[in-house]
Amino acid sequence: MKKYNVAVVGATGAVGEELFRVLDELNFPINNLIPLASSKSVGVEIEYRKKYYKVLELTEGIFEEKEVEIAFFSAGGSISAHFAKFATEAGAVVIDNTSHFRMNPDVPLVVPECNPNDIKNWKNSGIIANPNCSTIQMVQVLKPLDDIYNITRVDVSTYQAVSGAGKAGMEELVSQMQDFFAFKLSESKSKIFQHQIALNVIPHVDVFLENDYTKEEIKMVNETQKILGKNIEVSATCVRVPVIRSHSESITIHFENSISVEKAIQSLKNAPNVIVLDDPNKNEYPMPVIASDTNETYVGRIRKDISRDNILHLWCVADQLRVGAATNSVRIAQKWIEMEE
Ligand SMILES: NC(=O)c1ccc[n+]([C@@H]2O[C@H](COP(=O)([O-])OP(=O)(O)OC[C@H]3O[C@@H](n4cnc5c(N)ncnc54)[C@H](OP(=O)(O)O)[C@@H]3O)[C@@H](O)[C@H]2O)c1
Repeated sequence: MKKYNVAVVGATGAVGEELFRVLDELNFPINNLIPLASSKSVGVEIEYRKKYYKVLELTEGIFEEKEVEIAFFSAGGSISAHFAKFATEAGAVVIDNTSHFRMNPDVPLVVPECNPNDIKNWKNSGIIANPNCSTIQMVQVLKPLDDIYNITRVDVSTYQAVSGAGKAGMEELVSQMQDFFAFKLSESKSKIFQHQIALNVIPHVDVFLENDYTKEEIKMVNETQKILGKNIEVSATCVRVPVIRSHSESITIHFENSISVEKAIQSLKNAPNVIVLDDPNKNEYPMPVIASDTNETYVGRIRKDISRDNILHLWCVADQLRVGAATNSVRIAQKWIEMEE
């Protein structure tokens, strides 16, 4: 099997670090590994399979110099906006974790469990976009249900972990909790989140738009429609919670016609990389502590609406650094290799 020169842009970040773990676990065929970050991280060592790789500075010429064939980008939208073209011009396929290219019609937006064939269009731009972390786990659950019953509308509320805002988000929660135990939480500063996140819940992720939704909420609307290839109505309320890792979602799904819960559960049990964890008698349901550090999306609390036969409610949890970013990117790359070879 061919092995590839793989660059990780944003190698020192929350997603970048997870990418190395997932590449290792999924036995990705790597010839040379090239960790890239900002000038401040040059020389930092990344351990991968008992070998050490020095972080290099992300430059316009590095992709050609290192003959990069696959470039994972997770260093923020403005970095992808500027540097992705240098990777594609050097002949690499870019798998981008930022929101920058997601809604570009020339760029496939892929969750391999839902729309793997869209990867075929990668040559239009050289780029394949990884959806927003909250969208990925939701569509993994919506797709098998939509395959058996026609979904017309989705209402979702998210409970998003602080690591969704990167390493600095985790550090802010930890330092505020330390301040709480030192009786000086009132002196704590909030730099990453709009308000104190320790012992709090903030109904505000990303910036507000003119329609009073946030950008994060509108990403969930547009990306779901692009991935599922249909204009189902989606409304989202995105909330930041003081959890370190793994996003939770309460999802209400409206179908065209009445449904059988048993059949819906069976379709979820058969869905790839989805685990049904749903036994109220044993207090069994998905939670962030169960999903963290795993590559699966967990679903539970599955129940029919008490008033209507065509509405299903469920609770969905996944590790957003993995399922919502690193794992989805690596699965895209695996499919890309399968299609190219
Ligand atoms: N966190 C999540 O759950 C998640 C999920 C899906 C998608 N994403 C997306 O993935 C991207 C990264 O998120 P993250 O959570 O990993 O953030 P992070 O922890 O803040 O890491 C940011 C990474 O980008 C690098 N970087 C920053 N400025 C750079 C520059 N000028 N040149 C080169 N590298 C630079 C940083 O390198 P230095 O250490 O050298 O500064 C670091 O490696 C974001 O676009 C985010 O929206 C995040």
